[in-house]
This record gives sequence, C-alpha cells and structure tokens, in this order.
Amino acid sequence: MMTAPLKHSEPITVDVALGERAYDIVIGRDVLQSLGARVAALRPGARTAIVTDRNVAKHWLEKTEASLAEAGISSSRIIVDEGEGSKSYAGLEQVSEALISAKIERNDLVVALGGGVIGDLAGFAAAILRRGVDFVQVPTSLLAQVDSSVGGKTGINSPQGKNLLGAFHQPLLVVADTAVLDTLPPRQFRAGYAEIAKYGVLGDEAFFAWLEANHADIFTGGAAREHAIATSCRAKAAVVARDERETGERALLNLGHTFGHALEAATGFSDRLFHGEGVSVGMVLAAEARHDLRIRRGACQTSPCRGRSADPFAGYRGICPGRACGCRRADGADGAGQEGQARPAYLHPVRGGRPRRDCGRCRAVPGSRFSPTQVGAKSLGSRVIVT
Ligand SMILES: NC(=O)c1ccc[n+]([C@@H]2O[C@H](COP(=O)([O-])OP(=O)(O)OC[C@H]3O[C@@H](n4cnc5c(N)ncnc54)[C@H](O)[C@@H]3O)[C@@H](O)[C@H]2O)c1
Ligand SMILES: [Zn+2]
Repeated sequence: MMTAPLKHSEPITVDVALGERAYDIVIGRDVLQSLGARVAALRPGARTAIVTDRNVAKHWLEKTEASLAEAGISSSRIIVDEGEGSKSYAGLEQVSEALISAKIERNDLVVALGGGVIGDLAGFAAAILRRGVDFVQVPTSLLAQVDSSVGGKTGINSPQGKNLLGAFHQPLLVVADTAVLDTLPPRQFRAGYAEIAKYGVLGDEAFFAWLEANHADIFTGGAAREHAIATSCRAKAAVVARDERETGERALLNLGHTFGHALEAATGFSDRLFHGEGVSVGMVLAAEARHDLRIRRGACQTSPCRGRSADPFAGYRGICPGRACGCRRADGADGAGQEGQARPAYLHPVRGGRPRRDCGRCRAVPGSRFSPTQVGAKSLGSRVIVT
C-alpha cells in the first residue's frame, strides 16, 4: 500500500487497448491546456465542435476554446441545458442539427466537454452524424472521469427508460483534467467517488485500503486525486478491453447498480438521489443481500439450489440458477439489469465468514477487511435517506 504523500507529476496516460479502436486517457492537473496540441497531432486540419452544458460552459468553455485556438484548430460551441433532461430526443436533435450547421464532416471532431450527460449525448450524436464521426471526451465530473468517459457507451434516454437508445462509439482521445473538478459541486464529487470505491470493492483490496487512507486528499485535489482516477480508469479499461460489448465480464462494473437503479427509479431519477449515491447505497445492499442469501440458501429446497449448496464456493460466486426460489431475486438483483437472468456480482461475504479459498474468478478479499458499509458511509455521509 502506498503511504507517502503523492506529488503532482507529469500527466498519467492510461491506454485503452482496443486494437484499431485503442485510445489514450490522459489524466493530470491542467492537462486541458494541452488539448489543442493533442488533437492537432491526432487529426491535423480537423474542425471541431464543442458540446457542453451551461454550468460547464461558465467555468471551462473559454479555456477549452483557447487551447484549441492556440493549436490552430477552429471550433464552434453547442451549449445544452444542464441535467439528465438533455439526454433525450430533443437534446439529440438540438446537438445533431447544430453539428450539421457547424459543418462537421467525416474527418472533423466532436468535443464532449462535460459530465456523463454530455459525454453520452455528444458521443451518440457523433456516432450517428454522417454515419459516424470521431469524438474526443473532456470529462468534467468525477463520475465522467472514472466511469462514463471510458468504454465507449453512448446514448440517450427514452421516455420508457434510461439509456435505451445508443451505440458503442469509442472516443479518439480522453483528456481528464483533474483541476476542472475543483468547480464541481461537492455533492456531485462525492457521488462520483462511489464509482472509485467500487473498483476497490470489485477486487482490488490494496486500492480499497489506500482509499481509506487517502480519501481526504482526493476530495481536496491533492495528487491522490490523479492516482485514484488513473487507477479507476485502468481497472475499467482492463475490463472493457476484455469485453467491449458487455457479453460477460463487463457486467461486473454494474456492481451495486441494479439496486442503485431501483432506488433512482423510486426517487423519480431526480436530484433527490444522484446516480453515484444510488450506486453507493446499492453496493451496501448488494453485499447484504449476498450475505442473506448465503444464510437462506441452506434452507432453500428447490433442486438447483440444493445442487448449488453442495458447491462450497456457491456463496462466494453468488451464482444461483434457481429461477423459482426466493434466492433468485436477491441474487439476480445485482445482475446487469437483465430481467430474470442471474448474474454473479462477485462479492465476498461481508459480516462474518471468510472465503475458504479464492473462488478462482475474482480475487478473494479477506472477509473481515471488506466492508462496503464504509464505502456507503464515506461517500454519502448521512446525506441520503431514501424513503
Ligand atoms: N457511458 C457510460 O459508460 C456511463 C457510465 C456511467 C454513467 N453514465 C451516464 O452519466 C450520466 C451522469 O453523469 P454525471 O454524474 O457526470 O452527470 P452530469 O453530466 O449531469 O453532471 C452533473 C452536474 O455537474 C455539472 N458539472 C459537470 N462538471 C462540472 C464542473 N467541472 N464544474 C461545475 N459543474 C459541473 C453538470 O452541469 C451537472 O449539473 C448519466 O446520464 C448516466 O447514465 C454513462
Ligand atoms: Zn455507475
């Protein structure tokens, strides 16, 4: 575990290894200044259109434009309303029409400057504009820097549900300037932190312990912030490189999300509960459900579960094929949101009980050290009460 204080250093580059769609995530304080030079090197002569929201525009649009201008790159600006409402047909229409008016052609670039809403919306608009133009992500929320800007999922919401329309479209480059997070409202920062903690819970015990020791520095903008973001991006990039289209392992990243989404739905996808807050609570619930399940599984008499309970690792893997029994709901509850399909969450027991052996599919975290309740407590404080 790293204990010495970290110093701000050169930008960290995380490589997302996706063959011909491979790209770099550049992380560091003030790297926004280098955006223009990086874009010019990747795509000489390209025009750009910056898509952003009103909040982000206030703080960071001029700096972004200046960096592009300094490298001789022309840019136009497309500003949408802040918030999830822009990830809609109307938002997509606004952005798409503006991109066409700005004469963004096949070799030009869309620059997504904002949080996850802007990344998803601008990325999707880029994916469908002229059957696909490239885009660059400049994530400005913590959630976007550690999660939504990595992996190429783009899209909008339908009135019938979140993220129901979209495309996989990998960016050409991601420039994550940790200084832009200084203007992010603290509650938004804390919500994004839940996704960082998730990577620790998912199987990196040393990182989890490091977070326990260094979270204050992450929040105040010390060099631990860069390290935490880079570690999270690396973790997500590694999973994405192995399973780009979420046919299996990538679903792991949904840890805490099924419960989280249920809570978000129960609170009307409103400001009462941010996504990261839902995930934070969701991770705790998932861990508790897993724990309850292990207890209940012994009592379950349906044949698949009887078969499973003979498997000493069943509780750790959390795979319960028993569609008919009560286990399924709790077990599948943290799956990838696919109805009726139980997916492993790869959690280890929380209270009591240590993994007897490494389950072989994930790294065993000694039971006593692993406490997602701390994750919830740290990232939420006492702010969120879901009623
Ligand atoms: N594509 C993916 O893989 C993926 C993964 C996770 C989440 N998402 C999506 O991301 C979205 C949530 O992202 P989010 O939490 O970043 O929300 P967001 O984009 O709405 O940003 C949150 C708020 O912070 C403001 N903001 C952003 N950066 C700021 C800054 N530097 N200074 C001041 N204010 C700033 C925004 O204007 C907004 O009001 C959801 O739509 C979710 O579905 C996508
Ligand atoms: Zn999430």
